[in-house]
Amino acid sequence: MLPSLFLYVLAFAASCALAAPPKSSRRSKEPQYFDQENAITSVTEVPKEYLDWYLSFMLFSSATYCPSSMILPKWDCGIPSRNLPTFVPTKAGGDGSSVQRYIVGHWPDETAVVVAYQGTDPTSLEAILTDLNFPHTTLSPEIFPGIPDDVRVHRGFARAHNNTARIVLGEVQRLRAVTGYTKVYITGHSLGGVLATLTTLMLQRHVPDLQTKTVTFGMPRIGNPAFAKFFDNNVRDFKRVNLYRDMIPVLPPRNIAFGDSYYEFLHTKGEIHILKNGTTLACPGNDHKEPGCHASDVDSFLSGNPADHLGPYPPARLRLGADFCQSIEEAQSSAAHVKGFKYDALAWLFELPRNKYVKGAIDWVKGFFP
Ligand SMILES: *[C@@H]1O[C@H](CO)[C@@H](O)[C@H](O)[C@H]1NC(C)=O
Ligand SMILES: *[C@@H]1O[C@H](CO)[C@@H](O)[C@H](O)[C@H]1NC(C)=O
Repeated sequence: MLPSLFLYVLAFAASCALAAPPKSSRRSKEPQYFDQENAITSVTEVPKEYLDWYLSFMLFSSATYCPSSMILPKWDCGIPSRNLPTFVPTKAGGDGSSVQRYIVGHWPDETAVVVAYQGTDPTSLEAILTDLNFPHTTLSPEIFPGIPDDVRVHRGFARAHNNTARIVLGEVQRLRAVTGYTKVYITGHSLGGVLATLTTLMLQRHVPDLQTKTVTFGMPRIGNPAFAKFFDNNVRDFKRVNLYRDMIPVLPPRNIAFGDSYYEFLHTKGEIHILKNGTTLACPGNDHKEPGCHASDVDSFLSGNPADHLGPYPPARLRLGADFCQSIEEAQSSAAHVKGFKYDALAWLFELPRNKYVKGAIDWVKGFFP
């Protein structure tokens, strides 16, 4: 058992080292022909150029795992800042546990304002408790003007968004006035993807002529079918990327009966699923069940793999999250290895039910119950 843990750590360390910084000259223009209206009606292969294009979103997402002191006053947090050297962060905050970190700034290369949010640090109990607070709540009409009465969302997610909603909204409006940019790029990984999604809707409600472009990574479900419908009807350009057999995108489950209460969750449109063999598919609809789409490949979170939540994401084999691997230097420092080790141990524990011997033992015990 110890040698296998050791191998895990080695594998993680090796993959950090392999995540060579992609050259900024590789950043390519968004392929114009790719489904910006989320209007595809059948499973469609995603062009490779699209993966190259969304790399910048991934870099912004990974930057949120750096402490704010590496964002401001100097944009200096390893791979993301080296590859997006012209980005100008203007606001960064959060602490990574009770308040998710966020970055707002402007990016002259793409004449866009950028908003990025941090995901759950699996070593932070507070952030994990946020994820588990799934009973439904309404969205505040002050933050989401005109939100229909029947829209319900995960309570922990709504609270986490509310924590920084006014600051982010104010900063985007300020930057828009100062720069004249009409585009906003919004991104985040995991819980950060949830916050990016809610912020996309918030900006759409407050500044309807703003052009939002959102790409999230490994995002869980956020709200009920009324939420998904309202979002899909109001937001144009939204993509949520799911990697391999990541278990987080199938959480919370579609239906939860809890005590006397019953909660429904449904994903918004815009799924992009990256298969293990490298094929990348765009899936139509919400929680689309066709083979190759996430909801069919990972039919429950028990058949998912928590290690896939972190990456490595194509096209640059970047890992996101767990506040390590955000820079090669960090990954190589012993502190980062300790944190990585903690996460690997967690991943290994989650992997246990999939181990054939443990599975055999569970089946053997189950055999005693009708
Ligand atoms: C939302 O955040 C504000 C502070 O920004 C706070 O006063 C308010 O109580 C929060 N609302 C909820 C429902 O958490
Ligand atoms: C990848 O796997 C999918 C589903 O199993 C299959 O349809 C596709 O042809 C494969 N692609 C390659 C390049 O092997």
